[in-house]
Amino acid sequence: MKMEFLTWYTAMLDSLPNSRGCFDIPALQDAGHRRYEAIENPNTIRFWSVLAAMPDCLPSVMVLDQAMVRIGAATDLTPGLDMRALLQGLMPWRKGPFSIFGVDIDTEWRSHMKWDRLAPALPPLYGKRILDIGCGSGYYMCRLAAAQPAMILGADPSDLFLAQWILLSRYLFPTSALSQKGLPVTGFFPFGYETILGKVHFMDVVLAMGVLYHQRSPLHFLLDLKSFLKPGGCLFLETLIIDSPEDVALFPRDRYAQMRNVYFLPSLSCLKNLCMRAGWRWDTVIDVSLTTVQEQRRTDWIKTDSLMDFLDPKDPAKTIEGYPAPLRALVRLSLPES
Ligand SMILES: C[S@@+](CC[C@H](N)C(=O)[O-])C[C@H]1O[C@@H](n2cnc3c(N)ncnc32)[C@H](O)[C@@H]1O
Repeated sequence: MKMEFLTWYTAMLDSLPNSRGCFDIPALQDAGHRRYEAIENPNTIRFWSVLAAMPDCLPSVMVLDQAMVRIGAATDLTPGLDMRALLQGLMPWRKGPFSIFGVDIDTEWRSHMKWDRLAPALPPLYGKRILDIGCGSGYYMCRLAAAQPAMILGADPSDLFLAQWILLSRYLFPTSALSQKGLPVTGFFPFGYETILGKVHFMDVVLAMGVLYHQRSPLHFLLDLKSFLKPGGCLFLETLIIDSPEDVALFPRDRYAQMRNVYFLPSLSCLKNLCMRAGWRWDTVIDVSLTTVQEQRRTDWIKTDSLMDFLDPKDPAKTIEGYPAPLRALVRLSLPES
């Protein structure tokens, strides 16, 4: 498993153009070695055995511009290969949906609903460089690729999402096929964004959706994100908020909707204050909406609890801890030109 990870990671780093010294390659190489050493989760062995068993075949179809990201068809496979069983080996599938060689994966999140809120607000992406922080399985990276940016990078520390991305990108973005298909260079950093801070000052667009509330220090997070963007670049920030006219934030005593790693949920005006005091220009509020059980729910592809189980059964306007139910804001921020 160690060799497979390092082989994949080295090839991924090698595929990134570094002509302007934008990446600190030696630091990233070290980080890759440290990352592997830190893997302790026994599930990771299962994930890598699935990846090793995936067939070497060319997908006959590829659809990136529809809600269901589609890769290949059942007829691309050697008869008898149980693709469903392989894909079940990478459960839980949280972000999607995907159809992979004829197997439809109804993910916990219908991520296309968030995409549909985001997409109309995106600038023209053709030829641009995009970074998705907290990219999960890479669903939004796939959707972004349809607009033919030059480069899409993702960063996410989860072993599960890394495995899902390796599976998807193997068929969608094989490095040898780049020029023929007009697809972007893609890269996935299997770390927290902190590890890639450094020289990367050359993104046109950064997405940070569903990440701020996982940060112990949201102000530092917002300060850090500035170092990824070119002057004039923009950040699409999506986060949990509370509905309050005051400049305040909720800091849960313990869990929020059963999640242990949720820290600050600001009001919209408090979020604006945070962003502006971190030096961002507050461009626009794109959307504010409640997360519904239509968007996040248990399916056959995740066996654990989902949003419905995290809300108060007597009052779905509250989490089971008694906090306001999940409400999310999506905003566009930019860096002043000077
Ligand atoms: C709630 S999910 C959001 C996923 C996706 N962006 C979306 O909006 O559907 C939060 C993701 O952020 C990742 N994450 C948490 N801390 C992070 C960090 N410091 N840097 C990058 N990703 C992080 C988690 O692993 C997880 O995949």
